[in-house]
Amino acid sequence: MRLSLRLIASLVLAVTIVSVAFALYQVQAENRSRKNELERRAQLLAESLQETVEPLLAKGAQDSLQRIVERFGNRERLAGVAIYDRQAHPVVLTPNLAARLGPEMPAVEKTLTEGHNSRLLFESSDQQMHVFVVPVHHDDQVWALAVFHDADYIHAEDMQIWRNTFQHVLVQMLLISAITLLIVRWSMERPIAKMAQWLKELRAGEPLTNPDLPAEDVLKPLTREVTNLATSLRIARASAEEEARLREAADSLWTAERLRVYQQAVLEDSRLFVVSNREPYEHVHRGGSVETRVPASGLVTAMEPILRACAGTWIAHGAGDADHETVDSNDRLRVPPDEPRYTLRRVWLTREEEERYYYGFANEGLWPLCHIAHARPVFRAEDWEAYREVNSKFARALLEEMNGAENPIVLVQDYHFALLPRMIKEQRPDARVAIFWHIPWPNPEAFGICPWQRELLEGLLGADLVGFHIQSHCNNFLETIDRTLESRIEWERFAVNKGGHFTLVRPFPISVDFKDAPPYQSNGHEALRLERGSLLKRLGVETDYIGIGVDRLDYTKGIPERFRGIECFLDRQPSYIGRFTLVQIGAPSRTHIERYQNLIAEVEREAERINRRFQSKHWKPIVFLKRHHNHAEIEPYYRVADLCLVTSLHDGMNLVAKEYVATRDDEAGALILSLFTGASRELQDALIVNPYDTEQLAEAIHLALAMDPRERRERMRRMRRVVKQHNIYRWAANLIAAVSEIRIELAERVKVQPA
Ligand code: F6P
Repeated sequence: MRLSLRLIASLVLAVTIVSVAFALYQVQAENRSRKNELERRAQLLAESLQETVEPLLAKGAQDSLQRIVERFGNRERLAGVAIYDRQAHPVVLTPNLAARLGPEMPAVEKTLTEGHNSRLLFESSDQQMHVFVVPVHHDDQVWALAVFHDADYIHAEDMQIWRNTFQHVLVQMLLISAITLLIVRWSMERPIAKMAQWLKELRAGEPLTNPDLPAEDVLKPLTREVTNLATSLRIARASAEEEARLREAADSLWTAERLRVYQQAVLEDSRLFVVSNREPYEHVHRGGSVETRVPASGLVTAMEPILRACAGTWIAHGAGDADHETVDSNDRLRVPPDEPRYTLRRVWLTREEEERYYYGFANEGLWPLCHIAHARPVFRAEDWEAYREVNSKFARALLEEMNGAENPIVLVQDYHFALLPRMIKEQRPDARVAIFWHIPWPNPEAFGICPWQRELLEGLLGADLVGFHIQSHCNNFLETIDRTLESRIEWERFAVNKGGHFTLVRPFPISVDFKDAPPYQSNGHEALRLERGSLLKRLGVETDYIGIGVDRLDYTKGIPERFRGIECFLDRQPSYIGRFTLVQIGAPSRTHIERYQNLIAEVEREAERINRRFQSKHWKPIVFLKRHHNHAEIEPYYRVADLCLVTSLHDGMNLVAKEYVATRDDEAGALILSLFTGASRELQDALIVNPYDTEQLAEAIHLALAMDPRERRERMRRMRRVVKQHNIYRWAANLIAAVSEIRIELAERVKVQPA
C-alpha cells in the first residue's frame, strides 16, 4: 500500500474512532437529559392536575373531568391525560388517546398497587410514548392520573446527532486526505524525487553543481548517507578512471581501489589484522562531550588509508580518556566514525603497564637505542618485564580476534611489539606474520648494549617478514642477527633461517596517500594569497616568507638545531630580518619522560631567545604552536609555506616531508630535508642538509628562498612524481606481495623438508 494511503487510512480511522466515541457519549448524555426533562414536565403537570382532579372526583363531576382531559390533549408533545379507577379502567381519557394505547398499562397498575408515582417509556400503536402516573384518592381508594407524552422526538434527536457526526467525519476525511496528500507530496515525494534525480545524474556521470538536497529534519539521516554514498561513488569512479588512464598510459600508479582489488586477488580469503600501540582514532572528553581525535603519528597517517581500502581489524591500545565509553562489549568499534570501513579492537593497559612498557622499555630504552640522537637508553628489568607482559596481552587479544579466520595476515607495527611475532606464530603457525619497524635499526655494536637483545631478536624472527624503511636498516638488522644468534643468513635473498623458520628482511619505504588535485587553477594564486593572509593574521605576524615545521616534540626531530639554523640565516642574511618566519607546529609527545620535558623547555627557550634577538612590533622569526594539530589544521600551512624544514637527527622515514610535497599541487615551495631521514633517499630534489651543520642549514634556507622559481618548480614537480608513484598504496601492495611470497615459501619448505 502506498505511503499516502497508509497515512490517510490511519488518520481517518483515528478521527472516526474519536468522533464516534464522542458522538456516542453525546447521544447518551443528551438522551438522558431529554428524558429527565420530559419526566420533570410530566411530573409537574401530573401533580398540578392531581390537586384539581381529586375534588372533582369527590363531587363526581364527570363533565368537568372530561373537559380537563380534553384541554390537555395534543399540546406540543403532550399526547393526553387519563384518569383510571381502582381496576385500571379509564374513567376519563383525552379523545384519540384510547386508540393509541393498548389494553395493558403496567405503569398505571404499578401506581394503583403501590400507591406512588411511576413512569414508563413504551411503544404505543404508532410511536414511542412516555407516561407519568400519580395516585389520586377517591372514596378512600387509590385511583390513578396518567399524563402521556409523545417521546419519538428523543430518538429523532439522537438520530440527528448521529447524522451530524457522520457528516463531520466525512468532511474531516476529505480534509485529512487532501492535507496528507499535499504534505506527502511537498515534504516527502518532491524532496525524494529531487534526490532520486540527483542520484540519477550522478550515476549518469553528469556534473553535479550544488545539488539541492532535502533539508527536512526527517530526511537528514538519509540525505547524509546519500551524500556519503555519492562521495564514495565519485571517488570510486575517479579511481576507476585513473586506473583506466594509467592502464592506457602503461603507468603503475597505486590507488586505494587498486590496492583493494589487488589484495583480494593475492590474499584471497585471508583476513587482515594490524597491531600497533597507537590507535587510529581516540576518544577524549572535551568540554562535556566526547571528541574523536586522530593522534599525531606517522604510523597512523600511513596505515589508515590501507585499512580503509582493505578492511580488516586494527588492534591497538585504547589510550583516550573516553575510549571505554565508545566500544561494544567486545572492546570493538567500527571506524572511521563517519564512514565505517574496518574494526578497531582496543586493548586496555593499566597505568603501570603503560608507564613501564610504553614510556619505559619502548621509549626510554628502544627509542634512543635505535636513534642516533645522543640520548642514552635506559633499560630497567621491571620495564622489560612489563614489555613482555604487554606483548602477550596484545597476543591474546589478537588470537581472540583471529579466531575462526583461516590463514590470517598479521601486520605488526613497530618497536613496541618485538616479541609479538613469535608469540603469534607459536599459536597460529598458519598465520603469515610481518612486522614493520618504523624506526631505524642501528649497527650491531649500538644494538648490543641492550641487555635483552637476544630475546628481542628471537621474538622478531618469529615473523615471516621483517620490514624497514631503507636497505641500510635491513643490513644493520641482518648483521645484528649474524653477530648475536645461532642462525643462517641468506644474503643473496635477504633471509634468515633460524631453526628451519625463514624470515625475509626487506626495505619498504613508507609513504602517504597522494591525492591528485584537479589541475591547478589560475585563480589558485589569489585563493592562496588570501589563505596566507588569514593565517598570518591569526598568528599576529606580518612577513613576506613563511617556513613550516611540523613535528612531534621529540629530541630526534632536530628542532633546536632548526631554530639555530634560522638564527644563523638571519645573521648571515640580515635583509630577511622582518621578512621570514618559521611556523613551528609541535605536538607534545611522551611528556612523562624527563628527556621530553627537557626538550620542550629547550625548544621554548631557544624560540624565545632567538625571537628576542630579532623580533619587531609585528614580526618575529619563530612562531611556536605547541599543541596537537589535526591534518585539516596543518594542511593550510603546508599550502602557503615557501619552504618546509625537516631536520631530524635520525629518522626512519619522516612522513612530514612527503606530506608537504603531496600537498603542493601548485608545484611551488621548497623542501629542506635532513640527510639522516629515510625520506632523503627518495626525495633527492630536496635541499639535503646535515642538521648539525648550522651554517649549511642557514645556507639551505637562503637558497630555498632565493632559488629561481623555475628550478623550485622543477624540483617540486620531480619530488611530487616520486611521492605519487611511491605512495602508501604502493607500499602496502609491496608488503602484501612479499607476504604472499611467504605462502609460496611455506609450501616450498613443506616440499623440501618434510616433517
Ligand atoms: O616514528 C616512529 C613512531 O613509532 C611512529 O611509527 C609513530 O608515528 C611515532 O613514532 C609516534 O609515537 P607515539 O605513538 O609514541 O606518539
